[in-house]
Amino acid sequence: MQTIAVINQKGGVGKTTTAVNMGHALAMQGRRVMLVDLDPQGHLAPCLGVFRAPREGIDQVMLQGAALESVAVSTRELLQLVPAGAALGEVERLQGGAERGQLLQRALARALPDVDYLLFDCPPSAGLLVMNAVLAADHVMIPVAGDYLSLTGLANLVNTLRRIEGLRATPLRKWIFMSRYVARRRLSREVLGKIMQHFPHYLMPTAIREAAVLAECAGAGRTIFEYRGKSKSAEEFRSLADDFLQGRVMSDEQQTSHVA
Ligand SMILES: Nc1ncnc2c1ncn2[C@@H]1O[C@H](COP(=O)(O)OP(=O)(O)O)[C@@H](O)[C@H]1O
Ligand SMILES: [Mg+2]
Repeated sequence: MQTIAVINQKGGVGKTTTAVNMGHALAMQGRRVMLVDLDPQGHLAPCLGVFRAPREGIDQVMLQGAALESVAVSTRELLQLVPAGAALGEVERLQGGAERGQLLQRALARALPDVDYLLFDCPPSAGLLVMNAVLAADHVMIPVAGDYLSLTGLANLVNTLRRIEGLRATPLRKWIFMSRYVARRRLSREVLGKIMQHFPHYLMPTAIREAAVLAECAGAGRTIFEYRGKSKSAEEFRSLADDFLQGRVMSDEQQTSHVA
């Protein structure tokens, strides 16, 4: 089993959209996927069409020692959801030492769920919930929307991740991708260029473009594959999942084209 945390301290950059559609893309490829909502706002459930989410979710796993599988709900074939739960916000306010950041890691050490991928949808913050996700993750995926503030934020985030790596026994695989890309917008292209320059080893070749259908499907409680399976956005999320499964990043692509 591998764990993936979708993180970015900025809100509205496409974390939840990524968790939902990457998750479904992986499930449609035959992988068993569990999506975990680590944002106390609890948007993951309605995005998956679960409009009355159970009151118990990952909060019970982190605060009460419940097993992940006991709070998971099935939403699609091979795609389970662990909702946030009503008490998740309390994690952010826990007092104590370093163990507050290891609640999720410890839950997985107690009992691993029987899935191939566990995806954490993180809140837009840099608090304890995100720390828990990063310490329990094998991979972090960072969606970046095209503006200059997101570049400064990205540099800080990568530095923070490198510091956290010092606390870990195993390396953390970092993935960056453009999440609300507008090809005709100069700023979008410039941000992409800068990321290519500074983080080619982390940058995934697939960009997710800004597209109204992605906002619409979330409101309808459906994934892009259910809402508009033949759209460009659906194709992009299939391709993003392939980048991940095949370990494709820009630095390899550049090398390939250099060799060819
Ligand atoms: N590529 C995109 N094109 C258009 N709308 C998007 C795109 N990605 C996300 N959105 C919309 O933008 C809003 C914020 O996205 P969301 O995934 O919830 O971000 P986050 O989880 O980072 O706060 C949502 O309404 C979502 O539907
Ligand atoms: Mg979100």
